[in-house]
Amino acid sequence: MLILGLNAFHADASACIVRDGVLIAAVEEERFRRIKHWAGFPTEAIKWCLDEAGATLADIDYVAVNQDTRANMWKRAEFLVRSRPDLGFLLDRLWIRKERASASKLLEGIFLGETFRGKVQPVEHHLAHISSAFHVSPFEEAVTISVDGFGDFASTVWGTGCGTDISIDKRIYFPHSLGIFYQAITQYLGFPNYGDEYKVMGLAPYGEPKYVEALHALIELLPDGTFNLNTKYFRHHTESLPQQWESGCPTFDDLFSPEFESLFGPRRAQDAPLEQYHRDLARSAQALYEEAFFNIARAARRNTGITDIVLAGGCANNSVANGKIRRETPFRRVYVHAAPGDAGGAIGAAFVVWHQMGGKTRFPMEHAYWGPSFSDGARAAALQARIDDLEVENCYVAVVSDEAELCRRTAAAVAEGKVVGWFQGRMEWGPRALGNRSIIGDPRRANMKDILNAKIKRRESFRPFAPSILKDHVKDWFEEDDDVPFMTQVFQIREEKRSKIPAVTHVDGSGRLQTVSRSINSRYAALIEAFYAITGVPIVLNTSFNENEPVVCRPEEALDCFLRTRMDTLVLGNHVVERRTI
Ligand SMILES: [Fe+2]
Repeated sequence: MLILGLNAFHADASACIVRDGVLIAAVEEERFRRIKHWAGFPTEAIKWCLDEAGATLADIDYVAVNQDTRANMWKRAEFLVRSRPDLGFLLDRLWIRKERASASKLLEGIFLGETFRGKVQPVEHHLAHISSAFHVSPFEEAVTISVDGFGDFASTVWGTGCGTDISIDKRIYFPHSLGIFYQAITQYLGFPNYGDEYKVMGLAPYGEPKYVEALHALIELLPDGTFNLNTKYFRHHTESLPQQWESGCPTFDDLFSPEFESLFGPRRAQDAPLEQYHRDLARSAQALYEEAFFNIARAARRNTGITDIVLAGGCANNSVANGKIRRETPFRRVYVHAAPGDAGGAIGAAFVVWHQMGGKTRFPMEHAYWGPSFSDGARAAALQARIDDLEVENCYVAVVSDEAELCRRTAAAVAEGKVVGWFQGRMEWGPRALGNRSIIGDPRRANMKDILNAKIKRRESFRPFAPSILKDHVKDWFEEDDDVPFMTQVFQIREEKRSKIPAVTHVDGSGRLQTVSRSINSRYAALIEAFYAITGVPIVLNTSFNENEPVVCRPEEALDCFLRTRMDTLVLGNHVVERRTI
């Protein structure tokens, strides 16, 4: 059985392919289109997935889509009767956001001359989210939570998963949403772009939670885990706000209302200086989010006795809250999908359909390397095509076929303070670079953050960089010990270790770690082992291989990024490109 999973017409449009219950490939459309968070119908991702599976359109049995416009109809109707919104709102937000051709028509439009003989199966948005976490988790039984902006008229859903079954116990419906709350605060603080919430999360540790009480005016938390937004502080439920969800990066108008500004003062303009007030508000919003999230988690667990939890939905990108679950709740093991946002819904929808159609086998997704890979020949050709530019930049190219030597040489460059682009194997699925499309730096150097920002990233100085650590060493360096292969949890670094790795220690002593082991990514583990052998530190700084663009996918993009920035070294498979220092 061949299932094509799609996240279409949401942010981070994506596709995956599942054959007989086994994931073969998964990729976000943004990586091909080179526009962050690209929303629309993921034609390039679909073409690549079919190619990777060696299949044609006619071979597809099911197309699983993470949206079901028929879901929660009664709740939609009830809202309309009670709220009587204007017609534009009705058309835009609730029923038919836009007239869209059916998925089968769109597919036949891509593959001209081919016929789609399969069936399109819509899957409720949050069921797809939950499936993306539970069906591919290592757990036979778990509490399942999806926390999000909105999808199919709900914002938050929880229940339990057992074997291949998922039962949903609770839904929180429009207009109440923690995702909307966090996004409104993010906009108010002067970060207007889709996905900027992580900037607020990074800013929060610089502030004090002085405004938690004031923010409680915006959200009422209830003992059963549910919550209500105080809607007078928001605009998403009354107006047809300008939004863009097709053929580009999603954009939004302000979600907060004038009453919000009456309470907290005028918004921060995007280019205005960050004041302590903004830091304190960021910290307070993060604290309130955590309170609401743990309230949900405790309620979802009540009466189940289950100690494992799986998470998905856009808010499951809040790695700070995720990292506190075991301290704040009785849960002992945590699994967060590598792409907890809408991209991940493609995989979730595909596995819902696999099990609905009688598939009995589970598929634990142990790694995130499901994207395109390139041969040595393709990498060499990319280098050859830019040979003149490499000469102008005073670079030389070497081929190092012995992996141990390649890792030793790269680790030595990192230990010398060089910034290294590391391009290997299959591209990562999800927003995080996990050692195949990464830029690597020395975590021991206090100025490494400034160096990276000066040479490549040019991002806000308050944002931290992340550590990749050999799995067996986590307990020695962090206060928690867990497997976090997708960089989805933030732990506190042991106090005595913080001064040894200042470049990856956030201002509050935390680090958003990625655990690395030979069994999951042998070459990346070998690189960190080589760095450990030289320095005694089993950790490297890992940031995504990009410069204000989607993470690089092809060797050409890696080379282009290397040439237009001041990166010192590029390791492209076995090819090592180094800028000569004069
Ligand atoms: Fe979602």
